[in-house]
Amino acid sequence: MKLLVTGGAGFIGSNFILHVLETVSGARVINLDALTYAGNLENLAAVENDSRHQFVKMDIRDREAVARLCVAEKPDAVVNFAAESHVDRSIDGPEVFAQTNVLGTLSLLEATRKAGTGVFLQVSTDEVYGTLGAGGSFSETSPIQPNSPYAASKAGADQFVRAYHHTHGMDTRITRCSNNYGPYQFPEKLIPLMITNAMEGRGLPVYGDGLHVRDWIYVTDHCRAILAVLEKGAAGEVYNIGGVHELPNIEVVRTIVRAAGADESLIEFVKDRPGHDRRYAIDSSKARRELGWEPRVGFSEGIGRTLAWYQANRRWWERIKSSEYRDYYEKMYGNRL
Ligand SMILES: NC(=O)c1ccc[n+]([C@@H]2O[C@H](COP(=O)([O-])OP(=O)(O)OC[C@H]3O[C@@H](n4cnc5c(N)ncnc54)[C@H](O)[C@@H]3O)[C@@H](O)[C@H]2O)c1
Repeated sequence: MKLLVTGGAGFIGSNFILHVLETVSGARVINLDALTYAGNLENLAAVENDSRHQFVKMDIRDREAVARLCVAEKPDAVVNFAAESHVDRSIDGPEVFAQTNVLGTLSLLEATRKAGTGVFLQVSTDEVYGTLGAGGSFSETSPIQPNSPYAASKAGADQFVRAYHHTHGMDTRITRCSNNYGPYQFPEKLIPLMITNAMEGRGLPVYGDGLHVRDWIYVTDHCRAILAVLEKGAAGEVYNIGGVHELPNIEVVRTIVRAAGADESLIEFVKDRPGHDRRYAIDSSKARRELGWEPRVGFSEGIGRTLAWYQANRRWWERIKSSEYRDYYEKMYGNRL
């Protein structure tokens, strides 16, 4: 299996590449990434000299370069992780979200259509469904009602992917996953931000009343689901992927505080994010039924593994938090980093 993985130097993409090379015999990966602030080749140090992994620095919006690469390499499948992925940033600067997430996906679809690539797997998010009240969960047929500029750009990409299946008969597949956590996650996201701040004895900023509910999935379970969709999924289908660990943010933060042996007084409630979705919950029974997939890592085990990784890889996140990202963080979170 020869895969073209885009965004493979980011959080989930790098975990996916490491997982594929570890578990799929005969796999080869071409990793296309523009190395934005979120891309980090240190994530792939373990496969730096592995001939099964080839890194190409490229922007998915560069239509000609992407098309040339697809024709030259003829991958069996494209797995598109490349995206602007942080909701807060999409509120501040939505244009790049439309450009990368919508137009970048379109550029990849065109390139793979012309090159006759087998499967086009779009890694999407449960955020395209909008928000839920206290009950119920999103199924694959729930209406697409994105509430943040990030979610709107991912929804736009999904609609192009769907249209390329219907118009051109391409074998496109979409996964919509809930919130991931695990090693190599950029410390602007909730769990690594709380872990690293707790380790440094800094404040733990929680939006609003902390009762926003998310369904958390350990990143390797998401990677296993993507592989299952590649191997057993059907053309034109959408698969919801969830961890079945619905928790309010404040509970997530308290779990981290306890696991890290930090003090609860570090928790600070800060002004809520505009348009903050109240609750996401995902019904992943279709993936369980049709792909035989289910999550394996429970939340407390996953948090334990994640905390251990951030403790063992201090240099990785300290460099990020202390360098060029500092201005951005300070603007977003004051001096809490
Ligand atoms: N993190 C989550 O909880 C989650 C949940 C569901 C779905 N997703 C989706 O999974 C994908 C990966 O998310 P992540 O958290 O790993 O994101 P990330 O921000 O950690 O990584 C994104 C990667 O894409 C690359 N990239 C950005 N713009 C690019 C461009 N124009 N051309 C080429 N590469 C570019 C970056 O350099 C980076 O390596 C995204 O599509 C995201 O929408 C994420």
